[in-house]
Amino acid sequence: MANYDTEVVRLDPEHPDPAVMERAGEMLRAGELVAFPTETVYGLGANALDAESVARIFEAKGRPATDPLIVHLADLAGVEALVAGSLPQAAYTLGEAFWPGPLTLVLPRGSAVPLNVTAGLDTVAVRMPAHPVARALILAAGTPIAAPSANLFTHTSPTRAADVVADLGGRVRLILDAGPTIHGVESTVVDLCSDPPRVLRPGAVTLEALRAVLPGLAAPPPPGVSLPGEQRSPGTMLKHYAPRAEVVLLDGDDPARVRAGLAEAVTAARAEGRKVGLLLADDDLAALDMLPPGRDLVRMSLGAEGDLEGQARRLFAALRDLDAAGVSVIVVRAPATEGLGLTIRDRLVRAAR
Ligand code: TXA
Ligand code: MG
Repeated sequence: MANYDTEVVRLDPEHPDPAVMERAGEMLRAGELVAFPTETVYGLGANALDAESVARIFEAKGRPATDPLIVHLADLAGVEALVAGSLPQAAYTLGEAFWPGPLTLVLPRGSAVPLNVTAGLDTVAVRMPAHPVARALILAAGTPIAAPSANLFTHTSPTRAADVVADLGGRVRLILDAGPTIHGVESTVVDLCSDPPRVLRPGAVTLEALRAVLPGLAAPPPPGVSLPGEQRSPGTMLKHYAPRAEVVLLDGDDPARVRAGLAEAVTAARAEGRKVGLLLADDDLAALDMLPPGRDLVRMSLGAEGDLEGQARRLFAALRDLDAAGVSVIVVRAPATEGLGLTIRDRLVRAAR
């Protein structure tokens, strides 16, 4: 494992310094890793067309070779060059509606894509990120960029450069810091090689928005439920997105009973001498203000109940901040499955395993 002096360079998210971008692009061309912001989470990038560079990603993250990577491109011509045959109509329809943006499409793998990018699959996941720094980096590198989230394997995805430093400091030479990411959760992954097309991972683009342009799109399997064989997304294993603390997730139709359950879970953990993080929307937090304050209770807000975008943006950072505050258990509530609620719930269920 390489041991680097990790350099963190601060950039204007809208207008990144061209000299820095040129240097970062040069590093990618030379086979090195560069961590960079996208509109979803920070990514750990390598030249997607060079198998040796790509292998460094797996090494740095401790990620198994069976978990395929997403390739990031600047334009549709770039996508076409990596896919076997001509793009299906659905790719143009979805690309037109959501690219550049937080949508990943699984398509037949073209021969230019090294097999370690796709974990040996004959499909490749591609996405056109909207973040100006990500776009500038692809253009400066002059090559597509393979990038998973820039966290250690199974850990919470990083939404701030400091999170990348915490996980990958010493394992990557350069981290581009453009402040917190916009969506805070990863891209939605849609498999266009299955019939009908299916969401494999819920993400920043909602199922409802996708179905508005692709009505037949199948919903993702609930976390913990596997699709048969080829239809499965290899990287969507149950234990994922996890903080160090244990995550206790409550769900139910009756809000009063759920709140009573949340209070009980907090009280029981404190009685065991554990430090508890209570991570909830504002109205849930307010309803639980009878819990006695103390050093063993950290209350953290996800934001207003109706603001799912804000909750998604804060989720991973809040989990990491609670870890940093030294809690050993985090008590959370599962949101309803509408809109981004489906994505937030997916991440919480996986964090709770
Ligand atoms: O927002 C994002 O998607 C971020 C940023 C950096 O772009 N990236 C990201 O990458 O979340 P990663 O590696 O953490 O997650 C990639 C997901 C995994 O669930 C993986 O299984 C799936 O994409 N995937 C990649 N290639 C695939 C393929 N050929 N078939 C099915 N699923 C695939
Ligand atoms: Mg990841």
